[in-house]
Amino acid sequence: MPNAHHHPDTPTTPRYITTAIDYVNAPPHLGHAYEKIATDAMARFYKRMGHPTFFLTGTDEHGIKVEKNALSKGLAPKAFVDELSQSFKQAWAHCGVAYDRFIRTTDEDHYALVAVLWNRLLAKGDIYKASYTGRYCQGCEAFLTDRDLTEDGLCITHQTAPEAVEEENYFFRLSNYKEAIIAHINANPTFIQPDFRKQEVLNMLENLEDISVSRSKQSVSWGIPVPNDETQVIYVWIDALSNYLTGIGYDGTETAQFNQFWKTPAGEPNAIHIIGKDILRFHAIYWPAMLMSAELPLPKQIFAHGFITLNEAKISKSLGNVISPFDLTAHYELANADPIRYYLLTCTQFGNDGNFTAEAFKLSVNADLANNLGNLLNRSVSMLKKYFGGAIPAVSADVLASSAILQELQAVTPLHEQVVTAYEAFNFQQVAEFVFARVDLANRTINDMEPWTLYKTEQLDLLAALMVSLLESLRLVAVWLSPMVPKLSVGIWSQLGLDAEAIANPSASFDALISGYRLVEGLMTNPQGPLLPRLDSELAGAEAKK
Ligand code: ME8
Ligand code: MG
Repeated sequence: MPNAHHHPDTPTTPRYITTAIDYVNAPPHLGHAYEKIATDAMARFYKRMGHPTFFLTGTDEHGIKVEKNALSKGLAPKAFVDELSQSFKQAWAHCGVAYDRFIRTTDEDHYALVAVLWNRLLAKGDIYKASYTGRYCQGCEAFLTDRDLTEDGLCITHQTAPEAVEEENYFFRLSNYKEAIIAHINANPTFIQPDFRKQEVLNMLENLEDISVSRSKQSVSWGIPVPNDETQVIYVWIDALSNYLTGIGYDGTETAQFNQFWKTPAGEPNAIHIIGKDILRFHAIYWPAMLMSAELPLPKQIFAHGFITLNEAKISKSLGNVISPFDLTAHYELANADPIRYYLLTCTQFGNDGNFTAEAFKLSVNADLANNLGNLLNRSVSMLKKYFGGAIPAVSADVLASSAILQELQAVTPLHEQVVTAYEAFNFQQVAEFVFARVDLANRTINDMEPWTLYKTEQLDLLAALMVSLLESLRLVAVWLSPMVPKLSVGIWSQLGLDAEAIANPSASFDALISGYRLVEGLMTNPQGPLLPRLDSELAGAEAKK
């Protein structure tokens, strides 16, 4: 059971967790899905632990690149972003990403909050006007320094020539906050995660210059206007980072939602930002500086995840190397995106880069989900039907007490604590390892105890205890895996004859699901065939249907 002594906080401590908000230049691909799925798994985990949890995701809709893309499609920017933000929402619905708000930077409350924040920074004396010459990369939506360029003067990330810009802009006194940010990082060892990213940020902080925080309206018209200056538009990253405050209901005053989630009730920083490693500078330096300038508490943690490659190559439209979650479920005729969720969450340690290949995907889905887990379920409910007519039999306490293995199959501790600790550390790979060890034990126990022999030799007491222990292990496995593969968990509970709506509900706690809903005598199971098809070939789904 959740143990308060393992964590400095209690189950009632609120949690605020966010993703990066995606640029709406093209529909989402597997890399975007990776971040949203991982954050969703964490939000679901926090809710299972009983924390009041708010999960924010959304789209970043302003900037020069979006404006140009809209123009090239002959669309007004707003019509263009309306359509594309919809495709992100659809993708997350498809992937089971259960956010509490989907923020769009074109939302009215966001415009209002960005103006409020701008005025705060201005009043603090941190915004000033200066003329500027620089090299702007539209892909990065940022000015580049010499270190960001190749020998040929191209952006290292995008391999494109930056645009020469000469303008009078507003600047933010980022350099004022250098020492305070370094001190914060040193005083809060888990502020930047994983640990190896911390030094990267400290290196970036060595040469910290003020940043341009507006563009002239002539060069970028698609953005939030600078208050009281019609000639200027607010820099897209200032706009984008502020989403985390709009998203939690901040409007410049201490609203109830802001007070509940931005800080803990004890006043500690609370927000956890999950982002890709490429945008660490903005989150670990610009954002804390903005918040300090606005005299607002900082987030608790910034977790930079790695990048997903496709066949070891960068996912990129120009390279023709893009897969969406829809492409994958359609190709393999999957009933839902849980196999994709499982693969992405376990293909690498969260924080490191990961790679997607069709081969590795099939191997992971077949070995873990179809064979180990799916077969265990299928065999167990089929045998129960054959031996006991599908109803949960009475179990003799004496028989159970005399078998260490059967007790282990049903045991909640210490596996529950191990699973919780792994989730708390964003270690989805380890969660899967721990949980699948239980699945392996169940499969091994079937082979060792041979229920078919117990049936033939009429050892029905032992057979009943074995069957219920196997099904009970499946009930628990489904609960522990439910933040990662919510639909498969519902599938398992439904075949076990349990209340599928209970486990489908993200607000149901581990406590409630584990302590309630036991497999009681007389409960009818509900065999429905394979939990998911084996991906034997490129068209596994089509074959399974024949
Ligand atoms: O950076 N693998 O938007 P974005 C893993 N709008 N993650 C990936 C990825 C990949 N192949 N490709 C992209 C932006 N991402 C800004 C964010 S937040 C206030 C503003 C991640 O659409 C990327 O690292 O370029 C980022 O976290 C997110 O997807 C959105 O990227
Ligand atoms: Mg990007």
